[in-house]
Amino acid sequence: MTATPSESSGSAAAFNPGAVLGQYRIVRLLGRGGMGEVYEVEHAVLHRRYALKLLPAEFAAASGALERFQREARVMAALEHPNILQVDDFGETGGRYWLRMELANGVNAAGKPCVSLADWVEAKGGKLDAARAAGVLGHILSGLAHAHKRGVVHRDLKPANILLLTAADGKTEVKIADFGLVRLVGEEWVRGRAEQSIRLSMSLGDQRTMAPDGGSSTGSLIGTYAYMSPEQKRGAEADMRSDVYAMGLIAYRLFTGRKLGLKKPSELVPGLAPAWDTWIMTALEEAPGDRFADAGELLAAMPDAGDEGSGFGVQGSGTNPQPATHNPRFRVQGSGFRKKNPQPTTHNPQPIPAG
Ligand SMILES: Nc1ncnc2c1ncn2[C@@H]1O[C@H](COP(=O)(O)OP(=O)(O)OP(=O)(O)O)[C@@H](O)[C@H]1O
Ligand SMILES: [Mg+2]
Repeated sequence: MTATPSESSGSAAAFNPGAVLGQYRIVRLLGRGGMGEVYEVEHAVLHRRYALKLLPAEFAAASGALERFQREARVMAALEHPNILQVDDFGETGGRYWLRMELANGVNAAGKPCVSLADWVEAKGGKLDAARAAGVLGHILSGLAHAHKRGVVHRDLKPANILLLTAADGKTEVKIADFGLVRLVGEEWVRGRAEQSIRLSMSLGDQRTMAPDGGSSTGSLIGTYAYMSPEQKRGAEADMRSDVYAMGLIAYRLFTGRKLGLKKPSELVPGLAPAWDTWIMTALEEAPGDRFADAGELLAAMPDAGDEGSGFGVQGSGTNPQPATHNPRFRVQGSGFRKKNPQPTTHNPQPIPAG
């Protein structure tokens, strides 16, 4: 049986379990984001499992979509790093474009699925302890620095786009997902949808759209908007400093469990070294020119985790070891920090604790 994608935009999935999409059998719908549905699939011949992101039908219909799709797909496929989720196939079936990705299969200590950083933070009550937060941030930045060095901007960094995989040795790997997806579908398109969802949530006058996505894509669009830099909200094109801003918001959230407010992180987290305040608030400068220039600078300026780095960790460099230094996993070539904080990082990542 070959499935025909439905055009329904309601809660019905385009494909049911068992349906066939080209060489892939649909196992289940994993979820829905602002830019399409994600399915767990099994390759018909190889029997390997992957995640397949099916882009919205209206995107395929847009003029110039194919050229843009191919160009951005090449950029995504070229990004190979242990902290970047590998996208390794692209295609079109029945008029719908899809991207094939590694399947995120993170679990917590209780063995429950914990696929993204958003899931993990939620399960921990909204924040991580400082040591874990520092470890995770180091790994995200290592992947992001790799992309920035190649001129690739993410544009949609948020906890839901940081996925967790369980390696063969049981350690958890942290991987940035959806690299370049915003550019692929068009920044204008994403911004329009995000603004629309915010208007909708205001007109409803309730908190429904802030709840975990219960069958619509509104929740993830709000999530996207919440992590946008000031310049993205104004409609300007994102650059590496916009990713730096999003990382500042993620860091603030991971350490404090709160949305960005007037208080410094160290005022909210007893014992947190004030160096983290400077680091986070520099990333969150309103003017892009006042921030770290890219993820390499942000990583190089990351405060020493000290005790915060002990006793846990994240596996991150299995396939692409970085040059040996104090901190072999986080070393980024050519990323000396030049601005407000000349201290190089000696941060020491460890595996994510299950749970
Ligand atoms: N490679 C993957 N493996 C396993 N689950 C995934 C994978 N990619 C996405 N998911 C899950 O599918 C759901 C939808 O993901 P999707 O990326 O579409 O939405 P999002 O990250 O919330 O928003 P955005 O569209 O901005 O990326 C989420 O619950 C996500 O955790
Ligand atoms: Mg995503």
